[in-house]
Amino acid sequence: MMNTSRLTKISLLLLAFAIALVVMDRRSDASWSEDQNRGKSTESERRTDSNAERMLAEGKQTFRFDTFGDEAFWSDALQLHRAIAGANLGGVGTGVSPKTALAVGLKVDTDALPGSLVSQLKHGRVNLDDPATTLALLKLNAVVGVKGSFNVDGSLKSVGITCALCHSTVDDSFAPGIGQRLDGWANRDLNVGAIAALSPNLQPVAQLLGVDEATVRTVLQSWGPGKFDAELFLDGKAFRPDGKSAATLLPPAFGLVGVNLHTWTGWGSVTHWNAFVANLEMHGQGTFYDPRLNDPVKFPIAARAGFGNVRSNPDLITAKLPALQFYQLAIPAPAAPAGSFDPVAAGRGAVVFNNQAKCSTCHVPPIYTEPGWNMHTPAEIGIDDFQAKRSPDERYRTAPLKGLWTHQKGGFYHDGRFSTLREVVDHYNSFLGTNLTEQQKADLVEYLKSL
Ligand code: HEC
Ligand code: HEC
Repeated sequence: MMNTSRLTKISLLLLAFAIALVVMDRRSDASWSEDQNRGKSTESERRTDSNAERMLAEGKQTFRFDTFGDEAFWSDALQLHRAIAGANLGGVGTGVSPKTALAVGLKVDTDALPGSLVSQLKHGRVNLDDPATTLALLKLNAVVGVKGSFNVDGSLKSVGITCALCHSTVDDSFAPGIGQRLDGWANRDLNVGAIAALSPNLQPVAQLLGVDEATVRTVLQSWGPGKFDAELFLDGKAFRPDGKSAATLLPPAFGLVGVNLHTWTGWGSVTHWNAFVANLEMHGQGTFYDPRLNDPVKFPIAARAGFGNVRSNPDLITAKLPALQFYQLAIPAPAAPAGSFDPVAAGRGAVVFNNQAKCSTCHVPPIYTEPGWNMHTPAEIGIDDFQAKRSPDERYRTAPLKGLWTHQKGGFYHDGRFSTLREVVDHYNSFLGTNLTEQQKADLVEYLKSL
């Protein structure tokens, strides 16, 4: 007869065996179902993926082509379309030929041109001195950031502007100013002021600013290429205390994902600023709320005009903000092309950047701005406070440095005060007292060019 202790041992063994079987079975079940699901996704994941695709496509369309109804300003009020067409084509003045358009930095998108036109262009059979050619290009939607509408008789009815005007350029693959689109690149050739100054009627702007039209023209002509003054319509300050233009450089609109505050002076998030620009700068029709603009001392023009609380009916902007933000955040900063910098020196420069030169304390890789509240007083970076004071927080935002190589024209810092990267490095070296050697400075510049 088996004793009880033996019986217990056997039952325990059997039990352990049974448990082992169950566990093994579960394991193979799990790995089997993982195999089945590899490469597949759940319904909710698929919804997210297709949402992302749709938002990208919609946002790109908005960024490139949407005027948000700003024709009401540029054409109905300022009559800019009449200056573009010229007197011979139902407008006023000599009109804007493609040569003139290219000279003020407008860009032509070759992907919008039919093959026949490209070959005519190649053979010099297109008249680039004739405003009629400009109208033909507008009809093809080939002028980056400018959208024309036409009457049935073919005359130009109105023009409006899009985000791409200032934040896109072309790769010059066909000719200077003519090529494929580069979304997000700052157009540092674009002379926004000269283009706006073509408008036959600047009275609406003069009225808003409380000055005469001649003054408005002088101010617009003072900006120069690659610059715009987004704060002029808020505070009416056209010139700095030193007499130079108060306009700032057009920044790139790529590589912004992960960056908290935007614009040179950190006005807000990407979507805050998109709404700001679409309503207050492009003069589209939408909704905008920012009670910081109600300050009559700091922003006398904006407070008087009620820019802190804009409501339009219909609202042509708000529904487009989500996809617009999504697209902008998706545009990567382009990598520096091989040959545009010395990789060995750049490697040494990275060490300088992250150590002795102290750059990475503010420009934290890989986003090159601070994760968090990325703002600094003018005193912290050793410059004057004029532009900072024109913004709510009175600080400068740590500029994200990716893709610096694409916007060397026009200089660096918000107003282009340093014309080369070497000047930027010299400024920091003396301001921060970092005692960099000549070699270290040169290496640091190569590193900045490589970002
Ligand atoms: C007339 C030229 C112009 C147009 C059109 C324009 N912008 Fe800008 N954009 C600027 C300037 C100038 C700044 C810098 C403003 C400042 O710092 O005060 C800027 C800043 C920005 C920034 C901040 C970039 C950064 O470094 O943080 C974003 C984002 C942006 N614009 C997006 C847009 C979008 C989206 C549109 C269309 C709805 C648009 N912009 C239309 C000139 C323009
Ligand atoms: C205290 C924080 C801080 C430190 C340290 C710092 N930066 Fe900056 N950097 C800024 C801010 C803020 C701006 C924006 C200035 C403006 O808007 O005019 C800026 C702007 C720049 C720009 C101009 C970007 C553009 O788009 O024009 C460059 C280049 C730059 N920094 C490089 C460096 C280098 C190199 C170092 C180290 C030698 C460094 N920074 C150290 C805060 C800092």
